Amino acid sequence: MKKMRIAVMGLGAYGRGWAYVAAKSPDAELTAVIDRSEDALNAVDLPVGKYTDLDAAIENEKPEAVVLVVPPRLHIPIAEKLVKMGIAVLCEKPICEELSEAEDFIALCEKDDRVCSIAENFRYRPVFRAAKQMLLDGAVGKLLRVNCRYVSYHPDASNAYHGALKHPLLCDVTVHHLDVARYLTGAEPKDVFCTEHSASHTWYGERPASAEIASEMTNGIYFTYSGTTASPVSVTDGFGEWEIIGEKAVMRICGPEITLYTAQNEKTVRLFPDRGDTREPLLEGFVRAALNNTVGESDIRDNFKSFRWTQKAMESSEKKKIIEL
Ligand SMILES: NC(=O)c1ccc[n+]([C@@H]2O[C@H](COP(=O)([O-])OP(=O)(O)OC[C@H]3O[C@@H](n4cnc5c(N)ncnc54)[C@H](O)[C@@H]3O)[C@@H](O)[C@H]2O)c1
Repeated sequence: MKKMRIAVMGLGAYGRGWAYVAAKSPDAELTAVIDRSEDALNAVDLPVGKYTDLDAAIENEKPEAVVLVVPPRLHIPIAEKLVKMGIAVLCEKPICEELSEAEDFIALCEKDDRVCSIAENFRYRPVFRAAKQMLLDGAVGKLLRVNCRYVSYHPDASNAYHGALKHPLLCDVTVHHLDVARYLTGAEPKDVFCTEHSASHTWYGERPASAEIASEMTNGIYFTYSGTTASPVSVTDGFGEWEIIGEKAVMRICGPEITLYTAQNEKTVRLFPDRGDTREPLLEGFVRAALNNTVGESDIRDNFKSFRWTQKAMESSEKKKIIEL
C-alpha cells in the first residue's frame, strides 16, 4: 500500500506521542510536525520538518493528511481549512465543544466528499475487540444492561486545555466510554439523563468532576454510567470497568481481563493484554479509508453519535431532565 504523507499538528501532552506513532507507521510517512510552541517542537526528536505555522508546513511538505491534536475548541476551525484544501483530517476526540459546530462541519465534508475521522482510540483495545466478537457470537445471549464505572485520580495537567472546559469529565473522558458502549452493543442511545457533581479539591475546581448517566438504548438495552475523577486514588483504569448483562450470562471487562459468569455459576476468565499503542490500528484504518475513498470505522459521521450522546448528557445535566435523542 502507498504510504500517505502525514503531518501532526499539536505536540502537547498527547500530540507528541502521535508524532512517534505516525513516524513508525508502515502506512504513513511523517513529513512535518506543527505547534505554535518552539519548546513543543524541540521536544520532538524526529528528522522531519518542524513548523510553527500550518500554512508554511502545507506549502513546503504537501501533506495528504493532518493528524490534529490541538485543544478541542480549535479542531473545527483548523479541520475546516484543511478539508477545503482537499487535505484529509484525523482529528482527536472530542470533535469539538458544540453540537451545531460539528453538524455544520459534517455537512461541509459531505457536500465536498471530504475525509475526516475522529481518533477515539479506546475501542481499538484488544480487550474491547475480543469482547465485541464474543458478544456477537452470543456469549451472554440477548443484551439487557450495560454498566460502566470509572473511578480515577486525575491530577492537574498544568497548562493543558482542560482548565477552560465547562464539563471537563464528560467532554474529555466520558465521550470515550460512551463510544465504547456504542461499539460493544451495536446499539444507539434513545434518551439520556445525566447529573454532574463538583468536588472542589480536584483540579477541575467547581466544575463537575463526577457524573452519573442513564440511557435507554435501541434493542431494549439499558445503559448506566458512574464516573469520577475526584477519587483520591484510581480504582479503575482509564477505560472503566464494564458489566454486560445478557439473558444467559454476564460479561465483566476489567483491565485486560474478560470474565464470563453463566447462570450455572460457571466462571471463565480470558486475558487480552494491550499490544502496542491503540493509535496504530486507528491510523492504519484511517489511511486505508482515505486512500481507497471508503468510509472507515472512525469516520466522523459514526463518531458524531458518541459526541452527540455526550453533548446531550451535558444538556440533561444543565436542564435537570431526560433528553430524547
Ligand atoms: N485519545 C486519547 O486518549 C487522548 C488523550 C489525551 C488527549 N487527547 C486529545 O488530544 C487533544 C490535545 O490534548 P493534549 O492533552 O495533548 O492538550 P495540550 O494542551 O497538552 O496540548 C495542545 C498543544 O496544541 C498546541 N497548540 C495550541 N494552539 C495551537 C495553534 N493555534 N497552533 C499550533 N499549535 C497549537 C499547544 O502549544 C500544545 O502543544 C485533545 O483533543 C484531547 O482530547 C486524546
